[in-house]
Amino acid sequence: MEKNNIKLRIFKDSDFSQVLSFLNKNLEFDTVSSGILKEKIYEDPYFDINNIHIAEQNNKILGFVQAVLRDINKQRYGYIKLFAVDKAYRRCGIGTKLYNQVFKYFKKEKVDIVRIYDVPLNYFMPGIDPRYTPALCFFEKLGFKKFDETCNLKVDLNNKNWDVSDKITELKEAGIQITRAEDKDKQKLSEFVADEWKLWVHEVETALKSKPKAVFIARYKGKIKAFSAYNGNNIGTAWFGPMGTHPDLRGKGIGSILLYLCLQDMKEHGFKYSTIPWVGPISFYSHYADAFVERVFWRYELKIKNTGIYE
Ligand SMILES: CC(C)(COP(=O)(O)OP(=O)(O)OC[C@H]1O[C@@H](n2cnc3c(N)ncnc32)[C@H](O)[C@@H]1OP(=O)(O)O)[C@@H](O)C(=O)NCCC(=O)NCCS
Repeated sequence: MEKNNIKLRIFKDSDFSQVLSFLNKNLEFDTVSSGILKEKIYEDPYFDINNIHIAEQNNKILGFVQAVLRDINKQRYGYIKLFAVDKAYRRCGIGTKLYNQVFKYFKKEKVDIVRIYDVPLNYFMPGIDPRYTPALCFFEKLGFKKFDETCNLKVDLNNKNWDVSDKITELKEAGIQITRAEDKDKQKLSEFVADEWKLWVHEVETALKSKPKAVFIARYKGKIKAFSAYNGNNIGTAWFGPMGTHPDLRGKGIGSILLYLCLQDMKEHGFKYSTIPWVGPISFYSHYADAFVERVFWRYELKIKNTGIYE
């Protein structure tokens, strides 16, 4: 294996299919479809091709990293969204070279905190699956600290009857209307979600682009008070969420009905399983949908603000 002569360069559109097969070979616990990779790269609301780097040797891709920024609550976050080095070329410093490129960009943009994979709005997975143990070692060596754990749940869509027509009728009698969202609901829905869960607006608006719209809403006295969605992220993989009920209407069973409507929809689309990602209230989904933990993720961050790391 020739370790010299490895060059870094910016990703080009024409690299797409080689990157796709590279990621599928080298992310051993994941499958990345062409649609998902397009979504991760080009549908990112802050997409900038200059922050996607390739390591290559003799036109063969040996490493890939994608970085994106987010401004959240007056903090600037730099995220690594996708990252891999060819299995046969690990521990040769390629990961470090790619990370250094990304870090230069984070420094220029005065990023306060760097995180790995758990990118709000458009993410592949909500953290590092610890089975990618070299990645844990890699980031810990760079000074990253684990600050949280999260998980993806899985629901067997054939396990239950998700029909909730009777309950929808009961709620209607109590003044609560549950329907699939329509075009005319878009603005009010976005406003409602923004009031309570600003970071979810993008996913809800993405879910509204599905046909039929992958969003259900509950209205009380004419106002949207709860919603559930799927196809807001990792589209086409039966990826549930987000969902939320206004605090005033919690405890009335609205959330479970909205959840069932999405699960029923995904079942009707031919999916056997749904993923409930980045959870959250495990007991709610376990109780209502027999959801079980499918994958665990560790969340890592490097705090930079006021640490002198950039000096
Ligand atoms: C994580 C990954 C990108 C690192 O790439 P790499 O090119 O092997 O990294 P480097 O050679 O630059 O490693 C730098 C340092 O990280 C640490 N490190 C990397 N892999 C390690 C391992 N398997 N065990 C212990 N330490 C490791 C070491 O300290 C290493 O320095 P050293 O070799 O001088 O001791 C690579 O392992 C990979 O592609 N893994 C699979 C995909 C993945 O996990 N992606 C990230 C998911 S979040």
